[in-house]
Amino acid sequence: MNDKYINRVICGDSLEVLKEIDDNSIAGCITDPPYNYEFIGRNWDDEEIERRIKRSQEKESSTLVKNIPYGSGLAGGVRNERWYKKNRDNILEYRDWIKVWGAELFRVLKPGSYVLVFNSTRTSAHIQVALEDVGFYARDTIVWRRQSGIPKGLNAEKKLEKMGDENSELWKGWHSALRSEWEAITVVQKPLVNNYLNTLQKYDVGLLKTKGANIDGFQSNIIEDIKRDPKTESNTHITIKPLELIQKLVEMVIPPIEGNVVIDPFLGSGTTAVAAINLGISWIGIERNPEYVSIANDRIEKASSNK
Ligand SMILES: C[S@@+](CC[C@H](N)C(=O)[O-])C[C@H]1O[C@@H](n2cnc3c(N)ncnc32)[C@H](O)[C@@H]1O
Repeated sequence: MNDKYINRVICGDSLEVLKEIDDNSIAGCITDPPYNYEFIGRNWDDEEIERRIKRSQEKESSTLVKNIPYGSGLAGGVRNERWYKKNRDNILEYRDWIKVWGAELFRVLKPGSYVLVFNSTRTSAHIQVALEDVGFYARDTIVWRRQSGIPKGLNAEKKLEKMGDENSELWKGWHSALRSEWEAITVVQKPLVNNYLNTLQKYDVGLLKTKGANIDGFQSNIIEDIKRDPKTESNTHITIKPLELIQKLVEMVIPPIEGNVVIDPFLGSGTTAVAAINLGISWIGIERNPEYVSIANDRIEKASSNK
């Protein structure tokens, strides 16, 4: 049944498409899902920004920040009980959503397969717990150190100064957040059959490949010094992951053995597929936005013809 999906981008909802994939047939998953429940179903593009501007004007709100989704951790507003409850509800809905696709993913993966899921430092624990709830075993969290992040939060001294507070200097150096310099990649594994070697012999997966000079040592769980991809006008996706990073992750968990297939159920502009092509590994991508499917297919075509 999988044949019609291999090396293809399927335009559809992962929650449905995953159901059509064979049990115990996929060698691993590398994916970058929407980072919170309120982002699901929104493109977060010009249209979405416009919708929010309009909404804030209608409500005579002075700030757009108030209209940023709760789950993003950037939402403004008074920190009252309602605010915290909205955040909490949002994260619980998000966990339930992960469990729906997580359970299907569990079914389609071979025993011993890894799942690597990008998420924010604030929400990665929920990804781990939700995936554990559907049967996966938590293995690690990879730190992708990317050195820059969206500056978010309050500089107390500056804000108080603006408000005319004469004691503002007392709060020099005090902020409401830490500088965000890394992104979390949650690592879970479908249970082994007896042990690593039995699993490897039967299913061709289960271990983690070391790259670099110290090949006899273990692969570090910190990844840094990843090159940014050159900007292209044709790829307008807003959350593209660097190809070098995804390639490193694919190499880490998918042995390049015939029959091994990597899946990305939230493919976006196709980075996982391009990484797999460059490494000579089969892949399946699922993306529900047709515009992104078309961007992904263009990138995939280029990568295949460069091979
Ligand atoms: C964070 S982006 C992935 C970006 C990707 N890593 C890249 O480098 O281009 C997440 C993608 O998941 C897609 N998506 C969200 N919900 C989905 C669903 N239920 N089924 C399939 N795709 C979905 C979104 O349209 C979005 O393109």
